[in-house]
Amino acid sequence: MRALPRLALAALTAAATVAVVSATADAAADPAPITVLTSDFEDGTVQGWAGRSAETLAPSTAVAHGGTNSLLVSGRTATWQGPSLDVFGTFEKGTAYTISVWVRMASGSDNARLSVERHTAGVASYDQVVGNTAVTSGAWVNLTGRYTLAADVDLLRVYVETASTTESFHIDDVTAAYVPALPVQTDIPSVKDVVTEFPVGAAITGAETVTEHGRLLTKHFDSVTPGNALKWDATEPTENTFTYTQADPLMAFAKANGLAVRGHTLVWHNQTPSWVFTGADGQPMTATAENKTLLLGRLENHIRNVAAHYGTDIGVWDVVNEVIDESQPDGMRRSTWYNVTGLDYIRTAFRVAREVAPHAKLYINDYNTNVPAKRDFLFTLIQQLKAEGVPIDGVGHQMHININWPSLVDTESMLTKFMPLNIDQQITEMDVSIYTSNSETFPTPPADRLLKQAYVYRDMFALFRRYSSEITSVTLWGLADDNTWLDTFPVTRKDAPLLFDTRLQAKQAYWGVADPTKIETSASPSPSVSASVSPSTSTSTGTGSCAVTYRVTGSWPGGFQGDVKVANTGGVALGSWKLAWQFTGGQQVSQLWGGAVTQSGAAVTVTNATWNGSLPAGGSTSLGFLGSWTGSNPVPAAFTLNGTTCTVL
Ligand code: XIL
Repeated sequence: MRALPRLALAALTAAATVAVVSATADAAADPAPITVLTSDFEDGTVQGWAGRSAETLAPSTAVAHGGTNSLLVSGRTATWQGPSLDVFGTFEKGTAYTISVWVRMASGSDNARLSVERHTAGVASYDQVVGNTAVTSGAWVNLTGRYTLAADVDLLRVYVETASTTESFHIDDVTAAYVPALPVQTDIPSVKDVVTEFPVGAAITGAETVTEHGRLLTKHFDSVTPGNALKWDATEPTENTFTYTQADPLMAFAKANGLAVRGHTLVWHNQTPSWVFTGADGQPMTATAENKTLLLGRLENHIRNVAAHYGTDIGVWDVVNEVIDESQPDGMRRSTWYNVTGLDYIRTAFRVAREVAPHAKLYINDYNTNVPAKRDFLFTLIQQLKAEGVPIDGVGHQMHININWPSLVDTESMLTKFMPLNIDQQITEMDVSIYTSNSETFPTPPADRLLKQAYVYRDMFALFRRYSSEITSVTLWGLADDNTWLDTFPVTRKDAPLLFDTRLQAKQAYWGVADPTKIETSASPSPSVSASVSPSTSTSTGTGSCAVTYRVTGSWPGGFQGDVKVANTGGVALGSWKLAWQFTGGQQVSQLWGGAVTQSGAAVTVTNATWNGSLPAGGSTSLGFLGSWTGSNPVPAAFTLNGTTCTVL
């Protein structure tokens, strides 16, 4: 392959989904990522890679992702066999590395995945970095994911394996890089000291407990929810074999730091191993009396073990999760749980949880509980079960929301609806996506979205605090924007739904919670301001001045990702704008966010999108784009905004 540019980092997939973007508009500008390993195999050696067992590794010129060489693994006799590289001493605990590898089958097709094997005191654990991804012999496929080592280890290896076959495959152009962490801000109020009406929590993985992340967590939060570590697939992966290796370190951290723990979750239709729903005949369960007995028995055994393991350390359990489906006539989700047992799985789960953990508050948890139809089905279900004597103590509202939805009125109705039931209420998984549809993608969160998000956090927390007689805790689904499930759900793109940015610095959203008077409105027009700016009275098409910041945020052989921030530094508001520059190295823009792009030869012209045309004096907006390059990728020397030459920062 060609020499990787210094900024080599985020190799993006062919679909140009943005896997890794780290800047936010109101944060300190990110420095260039630091690359800690590259393997291009161009020197005709295996560059330190080794098989995981007796398979054969050899440099190959049969295919190459870049240049003429790749690495071929052959002679595999098990799917877990594949190329692996020692990264002990290369990866530091607490640092988030972005690992990228290109994979191509030598023949046939399979799913490939990227993982890390780590050993502590001789005991092996396997962390998946990128899950099963379809790979064929016809094309290179990129696997890119983030990995943070959260434990002390004595062995650490990155490896690639496949899901089903033992076919030979190639890898090429492997990189790992990180953006240096910034110290946590210690001179800002702690969220937990500002919001004193109820405990405030965050969902965590091991990565949130170490170094700066751990400091941010304990500074601001009273409680934690293990985001995945207590789910069935983590705690009972095979029948009656209980493993707490994921959750125990999180529990120990919580205990050592005086954090309360929400247990999530004992029963769910997702992240439950398939054996749970497999009948004695080895077939997926159908609704028979025999299967019902078997399934309820497994449920009881699971809860007895998991809830007992943690005893009084877990004060709240999500006993059942997401049981409602408002599109069904009776409002019940048609999970295997329901199909085989009816409502009995819910009755059994609460009965057993109460028996094993009598001290714990027992919750029924769901998303979209602000949607009236769903809310009403949930209400009716709880009412019925409570009347039967099922020990339900509280309702959990997940609150996975976005900057436009839901309304405050619907959110308030969500809370008032459940008050007659005399149960507690908790906000259990709040995050506020910057996206309002699945088709949007921003490489960098636009300032106006972050501002809107700040207002949503401000208004929602004000509402929750008004209802503090009902609400006994509010948990956010994550600590900071560097690790959020919304980066891959419902589609893969960088989201920024939390209070702290990718470098752990306080966002506008944080101020929305901690002190709304400090929300910065000058960085960008607030939605109401931009709506009231009339192009005919307050616009200009050219005089004044501007400043542009151009950055390459990721680069890989043949492609790159950039962002351009343009600030109106003149004294006159613009009602529409046109930004132009020259790509003198033959670069070509393939996709752009935050405006409409045309390119004619070297000349690139971007006109504003509908939502960011209004650029007040002192205002700024950001664009992101993907492009291709050959030979070199020079930074444009000059930019014009509405014909005026800008200062290049
Ligand atoms: C999510 C986790 O955050 C992800 O890491 C995982 O891949 C999928 O599940 N509702 C829930 C949570 O109740 O358990 C989900 O957590 C998010 C939606």
